Amino acid sequence: MMIAPGVEYREGRGELLVQGEMVVPSVRRFSDLVIVLENPGALKGDGEAYFMYRDLPPLRGRWARFDVTVIPPWMVGREYAKTKGHYHKPPSAGKPSYPEIYQVHSGRAMYLLQRAGASPSEIVDFIVVRASPGDVVVIPPGYGHVTVNPGEETLVMSNLIYREVESDYGPYERLRGAAYYYTIDGFVRNGRYSSVPEIREAKPLWRSQSIAIDFLEDERSFSWLRDVDRACEEGFLGVRC
Ligand SMILES: [Fe+2]
Repeated sequence: MMIAPGVEYREGRGELLVQGEMVVPSVRRFSDLVIVLENPGALKGDGEAYFMYRDLPPLRGRWARFDVTVIPPWMVGREYAKTKGHYHKPPSAGKPSYPEIYQVHSGRAMYLLQRAGASPSEIVDFIVVRASPGDVVVIPPGYGHVTVNPGEETLVMSNLIYREVESDYGPYERLRGAAYYYTIDGFVRNGRYSSVPEIREAKPLWRSQSIAIDFLEDERSFSWLRDVDRACEEGFLGVRC
């Protein structure tokens, strides 16, 4: 399966090839995730939870970074496979944090987006976006995000982000995950948060063959990725910052 020019994912073997060469991923293990699980006690031993391929060549040397993440289907207790979750650091104090773009290539994804109010445990907006292959999802400025694999297939997704952006895992670690966990019983509130709104569902914003190709063809139309004020003006998912 082609993900971008020169980037191919081999589904049967679970390999990512760049210009025909196999790439070694960074691995997130269950021991890295234990702090954000609904039920850490349900974990039986350690193992590989998901795989990250950072800074792939179609965009190397550009101002945006292109990454691929592969999340196999697994469960811990009743909770579905997911990423650890993080916020992005803002460009400067008082500004919302940088946005990001995701695209699903294979499998299904649920993006759990949350915005904190006066304190990290006070969530003022919680959005769920369900996405299938081809769907493109924008993480609006100021939102933390977790990706869930709610299916029985491996989820393969890519992302575009301004390469100066740093991630902040602290709030998700301290609060042991997002404001909701996604389980076989549906969404379950995380009691460590002091205030959590009802879940708001939103749709993917557009469809595309490859966000990396879209970027290479017209990078100016993505300038809001490194300009938070412009991203706020775009009002993605109804968010005006
Ligand atoms: Fe991110």
